[in-house]
Amino acid sequence: MKYTLTVNGERKRIEADADADVASTLRAAGYKGVKCGCDGGVCGASTVIIDGEARMACGLSMASVAGSEIETIEALGSQGDLHPIQQAFVDHLAVQCGFCIPGMIMQTKQLLAETTDPSEQEVREAIDDVVCRCTGYQKPVEAVLDAAQRLRNDSAGIEESTAMTDGGTLDSGGERRD
Ligand code: FES
Ligand code: FES
Repeated sequence: MKYTLTVNGERKRIEADADADVASTLRAAGYKGVKCGCDGGVCGASTVIIDGEARMACGLSMASVAGSEIETIEALGSQGDLHPIQQAFVDHLAVQCGFCIPGMIMQTKQLLAETTDPSEQEVREAIDDVVCRCTGYQKPVEAVLDAAQRLRNDSAGIEESTAMTDGGTLDSGGERRD
């Protein structure tokens, strides 16, 4: 059967058997950042964002996601131009074998879409769904907290530059004052 869905912003028609799961179908379509560790909805390696929600793609049928918007790690940065979350993981040495990292980063992306300034506990709970055998989680937690700070800085920079280009100014609290 052919399924129509949007992957990383591109409309796709993807051929798959009726009982095919989303993780292996995405991998067969070239999205190799989707990892298959347990194929049982346990390890979190297959986590992608489906219609705004981080989900383990291995346990989902293609029929259940027809028409959905899916985001995989390939939607983020590239080797020479990493997304701030990816760069924070690199800078904090939070990547060891790397197998769990796409799932961890997609969980992080959703967390930071929901809360721009998460507590350490919120970070731990968000990435807890992804099993990592290498890092002991401390460095990934530090990376996620730093990524949140980087994204907040980027966002403050954009607001400031928008205010400057249309003639406004920001007060010391970052609030706009025209
Ligand atoms: S491969 Fe999907 S959760 Fe382990
Ligand atoms: S970095 Fe190896 S499993 Fe997480």
